[in-house]
Amino acid sequence: MGSPQDFERGTEVSEAQIAVHWKEEEFVHPPAKFIGQANLANPDVVERFNEEHFPECYREYADMLTWNQYWHTTLDAGNPPFWKWFVGGKLNACYNCVDRNLAKYKNKAALIFVPEPEDEAVYALTYQELFVRVNEVAAVLRDFCGLKTGDRVTVHMPMIPELPITMLACARLGIIHSVVFGGFSGEAAGLRAADSGSRVMIYADGYYRNGKVVDHKPGADNAVEVAGQEGQKIDKILVWRRHQGQNLSTKPMVKGRDYFIDDVLKDFKGCRVDPVAMDAEAPLFLMYTSGTTGKPKGCQHRTGGYLAYVTGTAKYYQDIHPEDVYWCMADIGWITGHSYIVYGPLALAGTSVLYEGVPTYPDAGRPWRIAEQLDVNIFHTSPTAIRMLRKAGPDEPKKYKYHFKHMTTVGEPIEPEAWRWYYDVVGKREAVIVDTWWQTENGGFLCSTKPALNPMKPGSAGPPVLGIFPMIYDEQGNEVPAGSGRAGNICIRNPWPGIMQTVWKDNNRFVSQYYQKYCKDRNSKDWRDWPYFAADGAVLAADGYYRILGRVDDVINVAGHRLGTKELESACLTLTDVAEAAVVPVVDEIKGRVPEVYVSLKAGVSDGERVGRQVVSTLETIIGKIARPKAVHIVPDLPKTRSGKIMRRVLAAISNTMDTGDVTTLANPDVVEQIRQQIQGKGPVITKEGPEDVKRFGENE
Ligand code: WT7
Repeated sequence: MGSPQDFERGTEVSEAQIAVHWKEEEFVHPPAKFIGQANLANPDVVERFNEEHFPECYREYADMLTWNQYWHTTLDAGNPPFWKWFVGGKLNACYNCVDRNLAKYKNKAALIFVPEPEDEAVYALTYQELFVRVNEVAAVLRDFCGLKTGDRVTVHMPMIPELPITMLACARLGIIHSVVFGGFSGEAAGLRAADSGSRVMIYADGYYRNGKVVDHKPGADNAVEVAGQEGQKIDKILVWRRHQGQNLSTKPMVKGRDYFIDDVLKDFKGCRVDPVAMDAEAPLFLMYTSGTTGKPKGCQHRTGGYLAYVTGTAKYYQDIHPEDVYWCMADIGWITGHSYIVYGPLALAGTSVLYEGVPTYPDAGRPWRIAEQLDVNIFHTSPTAIRMLRKAGPDEPKKYKYHFKHMTTVGEPIEPEAWRWYYDVVGKREAVIVDTWWQTENGGFLCSTKPALNPMKPGSAGPPVLGIFPMIYDEQGNEVPAGSGRAGNICIRNPWPGIMQTVWKDNNRFVSQYYQKYCKDRNSKDWRDWPYFAADGAVLAADGYYRILGRVDDVINVAGHRLGTKELESACLTLTDVAEAAVVPVVDEIKGRVPEVYVSLKAGVSDGERVGRQVVSTLETIIGKIARPKAVHIVPDLPKTRSGKIMRRVLAAISNTMDTGDVTTLANPDVVEQIRQQIQGKGPVITKEGPEDVKRFGENE
């Protein structure tokens, strides 16, 4: 594996090196029973979506929607990379997810809410009830808050039904929602609210997580303050109550600013609000995600293309039929939840389960009890959750009488070993698995097997999805051919309807982040010259299956969620005693990667232990608990290049007990050995290989 010289080129190369040692797994064929009922069962579809038929192939997805006005141009690629989809079309996302399902399914469950406390009753919301509630909330947004089409609203809420209700109410009016993951801090929500220019924020008083009540509302006060510092005034905070007539928050409501929505709703009982026919290109929502520089990017998703793409892929790849019970265990605060809990499933008149809490509460049998109780037959989760459930209760699934026909894994590479437990034990060898690779920016899946038509390969996302034409490039822009065993940067050669429109208020960043690297000609008006750079490493096997290796940029994928190293570092630098900070990913058995922090102290500061504790609490407050570091190391200095760039990869190597490679060209090479001894003890220099890494991605035992 990786020689020091290989490693020198960056941490991503070490993963690519590991890839070379992978044994290709055997194919596993989808169960016949699944094939017999699948939405996508006719192999002709491949022909319909071949490159010759691009972009018109995507009419098939758009035709799954109800349009107020049909479009005239499927793709306008005249101004790369600012693509326009279904140009001239008008539609409303809320109408497509709610109203149009009433005719056939008004009495069918749209959402089923499973509270975390097991003694609290599960309840279902029919499409009719969802329709009523969404209309009333839309009336509040319009008539009480004075919001109108094109305004932004930041929604910082946990996993309760009022979250999708709020999103759909926004969509009904063409208000752009920006949902911030409930586990993020108020500060993080405030920064995002300021960036999006929201003057209304929507909260919940509290929720249940891991057996405890989380007081969520105090975050609103922090958010307002932080947004204020950024020059954005928040004039209204609407607060949903987890229990009617109670308040789970200890924080007082601020008069004239904070309102319990249930109080306000009393004046809007029975109100109906007409869905606004939106331009296909009108933004539907923003979703902030971490990138290579400090500030999170507001990924701006369009109405028509996005909805068509998630509806089409939810139908063909999630195999959702109206009679299924579909449970995606992700959080709606991430893109997975937007696309595959809310918009995709509801546009298909599906029944979507919402679970409030952690999968292992009160024990590792909980998901399987829920599956049995609700007779869930489609299940969707991440490798992190799979590893966690496997560790905490490897035999639990056997105790429950549920039957999945279909399961998804998403968010990070899955080890073949974890895949097999998912297949054998969770799926009882009855369920097909799709390993779906995609990103916040993409709207929907990019690689996945067609569940009834392609065999599965453990650890591999599989072929590109319909209408997607990827390519692996090396750093010089040469194609890395299939079957070479070499890893490179996976790119998508063509535009697709789910791709984000731009970075909110920052077109330059959109171009530089995703299109600059492999653009063949900046003046070209031909989409073929504008491949999308995903910033993931990948290997393409001879059979056309892609194996995704993980991020090549400065992003740490914690339990399937991206945290920007720079964002974490700048949070550390808010402490006055910290001189410099570097954050690196370390391998973690459950979460895949977690951050580890290196800080040097300002002159005269000696109480490193205290600063270490402050770093932890600062990261938790500014970013959220998800950013809690595995360790904080107080070091005399950080390794730097002669131009002053902090060498994170050297620190990452130390944290992961890998070889640091040649450090002689650094400005301060001695500090590397000093740090290594501090972290690893004084023993001999260890192993070039990262033993853990090899286990994660490498040959199986
Ligand atoms: C990054 C995107 C959109 C899903 C939730 C995460 C990694 C995602 C897979 C997969 C290997 C995967 C990539 C990607 N990733 N799915 N099936 N196999 N890696 O969304 O937070 O935008 O993260 O997650 O590294 O770039 P996100």
